[in-house]
Amino acid sequence: MALYTSESKDRVRDAVDFLELVSARTELRRAGPARYEGLCPFHDERTPSFGIDPAQKVYYCFGCQASGDVFTFVQETEGVDFKGALELLAERYGVELQREEEDPREAERRKRRERLLELLSRTASYYERFLWESAEAAPAREYLAGRGLGEEILKEFRVGYAPSAWDRVLLASRRGGFSEQELYATGLAQRSKENGRMYDRFRSRIMFPLADVRGRVLGFGARAMREEQRPKYLNTSDNDLYHKGLHLYGADLARAHATRAGEVILCEGYTDVIALHQAGMRNAVGLMGTALTGEQVGELARMSQTVLLALDADSAGQEAMLKASGLAARRKLELRVVPLAAGADPAEMIQRDGAEAIKAAVERSVPFVRFRVERVLASGDDSSPEGRDRIIEQLRPVFATLPPSAMRMELTRIVSGRLALPESLAETLLAGGGSPQGRLPGTAASSGPAGAGAGGRPAVARPQRGSDVTRREDTERAFLALCIASPEEGERALAGLDLDEHFSGGLLRRAAKRLGAGDLHAPMSDPPGAEERLEEDPQLKGLLAELVVEAGREESDTAMLEVQRLQLELARVDRQIQRARGQDAGDISALAQHKAEVKREFDRAYGRVLEETGERA
Ligand code: UTP
Ligand code: MN
Repeated sequence: MALYTSESKDRVRDAVDFLELVSARTELRRAGPARYEGLCPFHDERTPSFGIDPAQKVYYCFGCQASGDVFTFVQETEGVDFKGALELLAERYGVELQREEEDPREAERRKRRERLLELLSRTASYYERFLWESAEAAPAREYLAGRGLGEEILKEFRVGYAPSAWDRVLLASRRGGFSEQELYATGLAQRSKENGRMYDRFRSRIMFPLADVRGRVLGFGARAMREEQRPKYLNTSDNDLYHKGLHLYGADLARAHATRAGEVILCEGYTDVIALHQAGMRNAVGLMGTALTGEQVGELARMSQTVLLALDADSAGQEAMLKASGLAARRKLELRVVPLAAGADPAEMIQRDGAEAIKAAVERSVPFVRFRVERVLASGDDSSPEGRDRIIEQLRPVFATLPPSAMRMELTRIVSGRLALPESLAETLLAGGGSPQGRLPGTAASSGPAGAGAGGRPAVARPQRGSDVTRREDTERAFLALCIASPEEGERALAGLDLDEHFSGGLLRRAAKRLGAGDLHAPMSDPPGAEERLEEDPQLKGLLAELVVEAGREESDTAMLEVQRLQLELARVDRQIQRARGQDAGDISALAQHKAEVKREFDRAYGRVLEETGERA
């Protein structure tokens, strides 16, 4: 609970000398008007990708995505919780802390949340006891043992069993002093459509508690015991506490291992995760049958730099992998694919072939791009020239993501061998076709840690090949970072945009709205009347920290700001044109004309940027 007033917290933050604080952990060098850089204290690296803005007091690592403020810095480096960090800093910088008289509404919310968590935790214990002690659960115990899952590991994951009766949890929670309304809010009970009565949602099922990274149970995945019992897995629906797209199964147990190993294994199911942990791969987490979300990728990135995809070779698994690769490109996550036989998941593989087999498969993981190339080769028809052309066609976008590298050469060699084409021809064909569409400038924001971040600032960032989505997000990021670097112009530029139209998606759009509504001189503080507090939105907070640290590298660069603004406008018009085409709604010519105008303006603005960089160089 908030023990101290938020004003105390602000005073502590104000008093902290952030540069000094961080310098005690890693050596920092000045790297821009509002930026210092050094080796990241949160992961192993040889070239610095960690940056701070000493005035805004935020840090961001372009390598491992660690980010935060003075408090999280102390939490992470000293291994204390927020309260501990606050007290430690208050002591060190001589600030007296004031205790909070909590806002009654806030206190109410917090108490309610704590009670719901308590109810979930108790219920998890209840299911657990029921699994191990009741006669009714004997078949479940047998089933689990039959799948090769031992008691010890099941207990670690707090696996349980829900009895067949309609009201056990209902009665137990009533006895424990919880209201029906609270029970309903946890998703443990539902209301009958016929008579409005409440009854237990999970019955006759093996219960897998779903916990957040801190290990607090937020919901359940519940496996059917019998074939005819549908669905196979019944999960807690999204509610106030649980949002399935935000979590990874087993993250609480895997996190520290993944960080240490520098690798996290991502698989599909609950049983896969448990079986992997039992087999000694303690860095495994599960997707829980959802489509991978950006939030989950963020979570993976916080755990480690490399993700090993141990997903089913079926089409859903493949989809998830493609999605992951799009999301990972943005975050400098390295993706590798663990080769699995079609239709087999890790749990089955372990049971059939033993722990060594899956370990060997994990060791044989291949870079994602190689996996894609091999898949296209395997599924295409190389018996006719047309077939081979089609294969080349499909491979081109894959190669478009590959910079000149040993990997690219190697893959070109594989393709040339498989399609019986001279290597030089394969190279030309794979590179050709798709004209590298209007390479647009980005700022350093788009070149990431491997590019400009570590060394000097590039005149104009080198073009980065990537998917359209990645490119668009790069532009949006770069634009926002430039807005922060030139607050006055940034404010004007933001005010002139329709943020819903100019920003393509969720998080970046929210960041834009927040920055547009607030004070660009203090991008990390809540704008007046903000509905959401930044504190409560770690994703957004991370992104803003990244933007601030990114911005700190740049001299205010209004010419580039204008270029990026026009680029957003171009992207918007393109989307409009596409929509209009899709609806066959005639008048594209007006749009096309507008686009041509914007393009001209863009070329002029870009010309100015080039001139300026020329002068500076
Ligand atoms: P699978 O059907 O592959 O199940 O679904 P599994 O994990 O191999 O389960 P076992 O080994 O047969 O016990 C993969 C994951 O998709 C989610 C679950 O998270 C499951 O672990 N899922 C699947 C659901 O949420 N609902 C379903 O009906 C099925
Ligand atoms: Mn399975």
